[in-house]
Amino acid sequence: MAFPPGFLDELRSRITLSELVGRRVALKRKGREYAGLCPFHNEKTPSFWVNDQKAFFHCFGCGAHGDVIGFAMRIDNLSFLEAVERLANEAGIAVPETTREDQERARVTATLHQVAEAAAMWFEQQLRMPAGKAGLDYLRGRGLDDDTIVRFRLGFAPDNREALQAALKRTGATEQQLVDVGLVIRPDEGGRAPYDRFRGRVMFPIHDRRGRVIAFGGRIIGAGEPKYLNSPETDLFHKGDNLYCLHLAREAAAKGRPIVVAEGYMDVIALHVAGFDGAVAPLGTALTEAQLALLWRLADEPCLCFDGDNAGRRAAMRAAERALPLLKPGKSLRFVTLPPGHDPDSLIRAGGKSAFDACLKQARPLVDIVWEMETAGQPMDTPERFARVQAALQGRLGEITDATVRGHYHDEIVRKRLWELRRGRSAVQRRAAPRRRLDAGPPAWFPEGAALRIAVHDLDPGRRERVLVGALIAWPTWLHELSDDLASLPFGHADTDRLRQILLEVAGLGLSAPDEASALAAALDQADLAVTAAAFQADARLWLGAGGGEAARAQWQHIAEYHRTAAGDAAERQAAAHALASDPSEENIQQHRVLIERTLRSAKAGPEG
Ligand code: UTP
Ligand code: MN
Repeated sequence: MAFPPGFLDELRSRITLSELVGRRVALKRKGREYAGLCPFHNEKTPSFWVNDQKAFFHCFGCGAHGDVIGFAMRIDNLSFLEAVERLANEAGIAVPETTREDQERARVTATLHQVAEAAAMWFEQQLRMPAGKAGLDYLRGRGLDDDTIVRFRLGFAPDNREALQAALKRTGATEQQLVDVGLVIRPDEGGRAPYDRFRGRVMFPIHDRRGRVIAFGGRIIGAGEPKYLNSPETDLFHKGDNLYCLHLAREAAAKGRPIVVAEGYMDVIALHVAGFDGAVAPLGTALTEAQLALLWRLADEPCLCFDGDNAGRRAAMRAAERALPLLKPGKSLRFVTLPPGHDPDSLIRAGGKSAFDACLKQARPLVDIVWEMETAGQPMDTPERFARVQAALQGRLGEITDATVRGHYHDEIVRKRLWELRRGRSAVQRRAAPRRRLDAGPPAWFPEGAALRIAVHDLDPGRRERVLVGALIAWPTWLHELSDDLASLPFGHADTDRLRQILLEVAGLGLSAPDEASALAAALDQADLAVTAAAFQADARLWLGAGGGEAARAQWQHIAEYHRTAAGDAAERQAAAHALASDPSEENIQQHRVLIERTLRSAKAGPEG
């Protein structure tokens, strides 16, 4: 049975084993694998494992073992050909007729692999020859040691129109083969001699997923155009279906390492040297759908790296756009933003592994990029402008084809983030409006125990006081650390001021935690503030999270700090206005102008202050 080369690989890569198996066997995720009850023998405890990275299943009970095709054969008692036909049908790819011609082509392709391999070796060898000194110096100059050069099989193509073809023809390749693997160019018009494609370049062999050389990238030494020259599309090489160092990343993924997508060859190598051995790169193009599919076979959330400049931001958005229609439950992307002007290679050279690690730790989820895409720089200060942004966001979300994922994006983006923005805005409006109940509870869908993520300055001053006091009623143990802070906060409301007084008195008694809690309850009761205290407490749990952990306390301090500054600013402004009103001297005008400028500056700093 000879299908054309690559057909079975293509079929296997189109079908995710756990999905196929999952239709017939209830699978539970266990780390990087899935386990379930073996469909091929009777058992009560699961010994049947599915591994998507390695694309095989294995039963420790009965020894059944195989890939997607093997599973389809066994589970439905199909022949090999039947299984292939059924799977191809499901995957939407045509089963090729296997003719004598196809078989011949398979043989030809096999020899092309060998020609590519031979060329890789020849380039490696040239790098070590006197003619390759420029190449070796270049690579060393970029910080690569011999181990690395060897590991990535870097080589050199001398600046000569026929050195490669002469050498490889001598060792048995035909000119046609060299043309077919893209190493030799035969000019269209007859008469002119065929010439080597790569000349005067450092050579990076490109491997397929199994580690066979299929193409090359060649970097010019010094300045020149193009900087990187790649192999053309050939029978072996389809650049949109491959990733540089995919074969190495597969091993890394199997060890649970993060998959990092950089832009260039040198970046990938630098990342590997620094220990990020799940690094890959597309081959001179933006990420294609096929490449995203490859990445998602390696990891649920591959991390894409982009330069922190405008071009990088645009590239990140392009990748996000491409990914949206392909999202599936659990499958997403993370976005690593590098300092402006850096690629992973330059960053690692400048700051070492830890510099990149730090960026990796701050990778942002796809949902942030989508949000930013439609909201960054967009005015949202009128209902119409707000609606425009909402419509744009909804349009984006419409591109997500998976209904479950789309639903959660809708919840996160429209119902949560937009809602928070609106809410912040109405708080601003309320400040100007006549006093009324500032009571907007959480929406029905708001998960119990989660803190609302909202910019502090969207809380009006009264609300800040309620949250600050309410938190200490909810978690009185914080008082030991925070009572000084509490005592000195500028409070403008009678209720919060009285509650603070009670809190400080109880804290001053120096009781044990349980005694303190009951003393507090008694004092609140006596002052007839129990109901108010309960409401403030609920408010604090809403804004800080119900758990009262470290993060909540940090948020408390953040709000307190903000409140102090804001109150100070307000007092200063008021004093300046008074001064100006009573004496419009040059000095007072200037003083006032300074404060206006400062206010504008902080307004420009944006809503996440
Ligand atoms: P960059 O121009 O960003 O360069 O190309 P780089 O990777 O940082 O290269 P060095 O560090 O100067 O050596 C990023 C990637 O885009 C592709 C290559 O894959 C390259 O690694 N590229 C770039 C091309 O295919 N052709 C080009 O002419 C330039
Ligand atoms: Mn670079």
